[in-house]
Amino acid sequence: MATTALDLDRIRAQFPALQRTHDGRPFAFFDGPGGSQVPLAVADAMTQSLLHANANCGGAFATSLESDAAIEEARRAAADFTGSEPDEIAFGPNATTLQFLLAHAAARTFEPGDEIITTELDHDSNVAQWLRVGEDHGLVVHQARLHRTDGTLDLHHLEGLLSPRTRVVAFTLASNHLGTATPIEQIVHLAHSVGALAWGDGVHYAPHRPLDRVGMGIDVLFTSPYKWFGPHLGIASIRRDLAATWPADRVRPADETPAGHRYETGTQSHEAMAGMTAAVDYLAGLGTGPTRRARLLDAYAAIRVHEDALALRFWEGVRGMEHLTVYGITDPDRFDERVATFSFTVDGAPPAEVAERLARQGLAVWDGNFYAYSASVALGLEERGGAVRVGFLHYTTPAEVDRLVAALGELG
Ligand SMILES: Cc1ncc(COP(=O)(O)O)c(C=O)c1O
Repeated sequence: MATTALDLDRIRAQFPALQRTHDGRPFAFFDGPGGSQVPLAVADAMTQSLLHANANCGGAFATSLESDAAIEEARRAAADFTGSEPDEIAFGPNATTLQFLLAHAAARTFEPGDEIITTELDHDSNVAQWLRVGEDHGLVVHQARLHRTDGTLDLHHLEGLLSPRTRVVAFTLASNHLGTATPIEQIVHLAHSVGALAWGDGVHYAPHRPLDRVGMGIDVLFTSPYKWFGPHLGIASIRRDLAATWPADRVRPADETPAGHRYETGTQSHEAMAGMTAAVDYLAGLGTGPTRRARLLDAYAAIRVHEDALALRFWEGVRGMEHLTVYGITDPDRFDERVATFSFTVDGAPPAEVAERLARQGLAVWDGNFYAYSASVALGLEERGGAVRVGFLHYTTPAEVDRLVAALGELG
């Protein structure tokens, strides 16, 4: 249980975007699953980096030393955030690029005929890279099904796909389409039972629940700070022994760099790293505790209480609307198996039209497949323009949810 409850007024005052209006009414962001808004402290840290410590790494002069120190601090912040160690962190432009890059590196250690398991719940960035490297290295790529009824993973099917040749089980910790939170412990256990790597996509999970790569037993974990109030950047946390040994694409003088850094090609966005550190500190500042990690965990406990209440409020508001079909888990007794992201269709109105009608009222929602392509196909949504998606974050207010519910009611 969180020791600190969220102070929404104080929180929202830190986000300039949340003060925005549309035709004289407040603008409401329900597009968090696509990307979150950013507090001032993040923008300030990026400005500070660009204006006062803008230099390449490893120089003798002051701004280079300061830039190096900021990068080291970013590794510590990313390690605190992902529940791992600083030398296990690799930064990149976004999660997708790191997912492709590390799949290419790992696959160099696999044999033709080795097998990979992906899932229908995953964003395509955790599926397509395996199809690509599968072609390059002669791997067999399987896909575990989702249950069409409630959008959860069919663990029985996944288990049946395992074999002594399975090298990777690539899965998402939470679906960016349906909001389903997957049973991490069970999936990791299944992967490890055949000696496969647990390859976790924590991108959608991270704004809602704390990542803990080591504690969860995940071998490789990805996240994107722009989903949790930071700048556009990607982070991979890679088990140290793997990070140190997979063949990486490196320029020759850089070969001796420690573990995770081996996968950082060329000059990185130092300003984004500085902004990411500020985002971790912002989140940690919502909690209390003796260390940054402890404060993060405390903050996430409070975030979960708040978001769970919003999810329930939304569901109670829309459950009686006959013109709405909501996908994924809708039984409130099972809401601990989902995060506060919902997708739905509206009878008689294509998703793009619904998104446009809501946008005209200053309500930001997304429509389509959200790159969760396999789920969209599995649910028969792909040929119908996908679905409409709304997501709630810790800065979302109950009043915003009520406004959304009212607007959805008027679509009937
Ligand atoms: C679950 C999930 N995985 C991966 C990605 C891709 O992340 P990035 O945009 O950092 O490449 C997204 C982006 O929406 C996502 O929601």
